[in-house]
Formats: sequence, structure tokens, C-alpha cells
Amino acid sequence: MSEPILKVENLTKTFGNSKDKGVKAVKGISFEVNRGEIFGFLGPNGAGKSTSINMITTQLSATKGDIYIDGKSIIKDPVSARSKIGLVAQHNNLDRGLTARENLIYHANYFGVDKETANKRADIYLEKFGLTDRQHDYVKTYSGGMAQRLKIARALMHEPEIIFLDEPTTGLDPGYRSILWEQILDLNKNGATIFLTTHYMEEPEQLCDRIAIVNEGELKAIGTLSELKELIPSNSIINIEMSDIKPEWVDQAKEMSEVKNADIHDEQLRLYMDSSHPDFNKILEWINQLDAELNTISLTTSSLDDVFIHLTGKDEI
Ligand SMILES: Nc1ncnc2c1ncn2[C@@H]1O[C@H](COP(=O)(O)OP(=O)(O)O)[C@@H](O)[C@H]1O
Ligand SMILES: [Mg+2]
Repeated sequence: MSEPILKVENLTKTFGNSKDKGVKAVKGISFEVNRGEIFGFLGPNGAGKSTSINMITTQLSATKGDIYIDGKSIIKDPVSARSKIGLVAQHNNLDRGLTARENLIYHANYFGVDKETANKRADIYLEKFGLTDRQHDYVKTYSGGMAQRLKIARALMHEPEIIFLDEPTTGLDPGYRSILWEQILDLNKNGATIFLTTHYMEEPEQLCDRIAIVNEGELKAIGTLSELKELIPSNSIINIEMSDIKPEWVDQAKEMSEVKNADIHDEQLRLYMDSSHPDFNKILEWINQLDAELNTISLTTSSLDDVFIHLTGKDEI
């Protein structure tokens, strides 16, 4: 197999000087991304996603560890790595004192794209992202959504080999979200590797070849969607909403023969079942003798959401 386009080894970031009091944002994570992959990097707020992306894209220095792009350490040689990397950062890092078009052209110039190609690409991306009419306006007059679209266009201007997108669709209208995805899939078809963080579960579920889940600075799991689904106790879950849920019912539920595991999540009692066709009568019988009223009961098969909750204990990114 060819060398991975990205290799991260024991990547660590502690903010602050004091050894004990610093914020341990990233705690020694290691993983690889293969060339041509669409790779999802998921985790709740504060998990260390942006800090990791910022180190991998040379925006931020690492406390410890190493990062290789195309087999070369970017810690040792950040300059040559930069031309291979495209970044759509989470924060707005556009030049507000330039027009949209100038932002694109300057970026392309910086990466040595010739003038004619830069202008052609700018025309294409301004059009795709609905910014042609406003291309000569200063970015400081742009709305959040427009700035986000421009950030994405800018990252594509030098046709990077690996593109990092840190929650790129946050604040984008659904129409532009699908345009972004069209672009991403197109770039990926032409060989670019995509590294994505998002808080929309359906995006990695549909689009990512592999997904890493991070929580509190640690890598919790990595694999294809079906590999990740195997990490949760069961593929079929009964969700029960009641007027009241008592913690001791979790243990009671676990004693039923078909129930592999149980927990309380989002004010619902969740039973992880052995079979995808569980005996509902038996479950209802058990519920009836509890001291609470049943509101709803439903059966779901597991999704990335369930994997995420199982691994992080959180239901919001
Ligand atoms: N510049 C900084 N100084 C101190 N702490 C920071 C800084 N940037 C991020 N953090 C902290 O590091 C942790 C990870 O943050 P971040 O990487 O932004 O998470 P995510 O992108 O997954 O939401 C959080 O606890 C955050 O408060
Ligand atoms: Mg972030």
C-alpha cells in the first residue's frame, strides 16, 4: 500500500505554560489518513478537533508529537507542507480589508498559481458559491454565510492535495451545503484527500470512508461506519419515554434476557436489544409495572449518532 498522505504520531497540545494548570486540549493522538480518503473527525465541542486541525495545518505549534504529510515531517519543514494543504478554518480568517476576489487571487498568488489560472478558478468558485455579484465588495461587508462560502472557495484556489474543513457547513444554507458537497466529491474524485469535522451526523454517515471519534483530547475510535457500529452493544435500540425515569430501572431492564445493555439518555430509557425483532409484549409488561406512565416507545437501528453517544456520552457536538 502507498504511504498515507497524513500520519499523526502522539500529537499533543497543552495550552498555557504551567505543567499542571495548562489546558490539555489534545492528549497524544495517533492516526493515519490514506490518500484519496474522505475522513471524518468527529467529537463534541471542546474535544480538541480544531486544535488538532490547526496543528496539522501548521497554524499552531504542537507541544509534542509529529505530523507527516506525504511522508515528510511538517514540524521540521512546515513551508513545503503548506502548498499541499488547504484549510477552511472554523473562525473567519479572511482578509477583511480586501475584496472577495482579491482574497482568492492573493491566496492563489501566494501558492504560485499563475495569474490566468487564478482568474479562471476565481470566476468558477465565485459563481459556484453565489458571490459573483459581490466579488468586488470588501469582505468586511460580508454576512457570516457569505464569508463562510468565500473561505471554502479560497481553500480550493491552489488545488491542495489534502483539504481540511473545520465545520465547513455550519451556518451554510442547505443549498450551499449541497454545493459544497458537490465540490468536495468532485475534488475527491480528482484525487484530493478530504479531512472534515462537522456537527451534522448525516454528513460523515453518508460521505466519509472512515471516521475518527475524539473526546476530551483523546482518540476514542477510528474506522469505517460499519466498524464503528460494531463498537456499540447492539444494533437495535428501544427508546422509551415516560413521565418519570428512575436510575434503578436501568439495572432492572438489564436483567431481562433480551436486553444486552441499558442507559438513560436525553430523558429516555434506552434498551440495547439482542435481536432486531424484540419481544415488545415482554417489554411493555415490564414497563406497566413501573411507577410511571409510558409516553412513547420506539425501535431504532443504530446510527453514527448512537456510536457517538456511546463513545462520548454526549449527544451534541
Ligand atoms: N488558544 C487557546 N488557549 C487555551 N485553551 C484553548 C485554546 N484553544 C482551545 N483551547 C481549549 O482546548 C480545548 C479544545 O478546543 P478545540 O480544539 O477548539 O475543540 P473543538 O474544535 O473540538 O470544539 C477546549 O477546552 C478549549 O477551551
Ligand atoms: Mg472546533
